[in-house]
Amino acid sequence: MSYTIALDFEDGVTRFIKCSGSESVVDAAYRQGINIPMDCREGACAACKCRVESGTYGLGDYIEDALSADEAAQGYALACQMRPTSDCVVRIPAESSVCNTRQESYTANIREVRRLSDSTFSLVLQGEALRKLLFLPGQYANLQVPGDGAHHRAYSFSSMAPDSDTASFLIRNVPGGRMSGFLAERAQPGDPIALSGPFGSFYLRPIQRPVLMLAGGTGLAPFLAMLDKVAAAGGSPHPIHLIYGVNTDGDVVETERLEALARLIPNFSFAVCVVAEDSRHARKGYVMQHIEPAHLNDGEVDIYLCGPPPMVEAVARHLREIDVKSASFHYEKFAASAA
Ligand code: FES
Repeated sequence: MSYTIALDFEDGVTRFIKCSGSESVVDAAYRQGINIPMDCREGACAACKCRVESGTYGLGDYIEDALSADEAAQGYALACQMRPTSDCVVRIPAESSVCNTRQESYTANIREVRRLSDSTFSLVLQGEALRKLLFLPGQYANLQVPGDGAHHRAYSFSSMAPDSDTASFLIRNVPGGRMSGFLAERAQPGDPIALSGPFGSFYLRPIQRPVLMLAGGTGLAPFLAMLDKVAAAGGSPHPIHLIYGVNTDGDVVETERLEALARLIPNFSFAVCVVAEDSRHARKGYVMQHIEPAHLNDGEVDIYLCGPPPMVEAVARHLREIDVKSASFHYEKFAASAA
């Protein structure tokens, strides 16, 4: 039996390896050209200690000095001893370059550019190479701006399907923006685009309690990929609620897709809120104004937050002010880059 192991490095690079249930993660990585830091290779020195974010595994043989019972209970393992019994995500406390690896690059072609609203484009890339582009739902890629030297922009994947030859993104229309200017004025189906990735530690962890997702603008994209993953897995064992905030009615996108996801995931619900006072939406104001006590479940909740920096900072401040101590809190800020 072979499992897929996502190695999540400190610099945000993620690499995927195959590991049989009978080999250690260190050995499997080495076989695939990735040198996870290690020393004794016998479970004695702790040089290879890592944290397993998701998946099941055997800890192997080791001494208590290398891995305490507390650490093991918190999800730490020794990569030289750990043997997976499912797909896993493993955080390696080292930069990818130290491990003799880096992000991978791909070339694909534009399949479709759609203007979803004045403020948002949908970009779909297609290419055989993308079948090899594995990522965790919520992660992002760097897309090179065609015809613009080495400039690239970071965008979260906005969909997720196994063995797909496509990759989708939501792209904010930034006045003077290099990528949005290209999409608005020059992009044609078939144009090649280079991309690299995946990157980022903002990805969906195993759902062990209710989940609250807070999205601002095109910060909706990673949640769409996460929800695709949940739907493909047959649903969620716990409620998931998404609050999606934008500035004006014209900025609201992908609600039909959210409705379709709500039909596929029975305990998923979502609410849209709009800052503009003249909005026709029932919920006006900012995302944090629409967080209800039930969504916070007395702190027994995993919170994911993605949006532009002022929105992320305001929501994080609000959660501190109302003294929410959630079981986990994950956030991603994205800043639009103009030319
Ligand atoms: Fe020494 Fe793994 S390399 S414990």
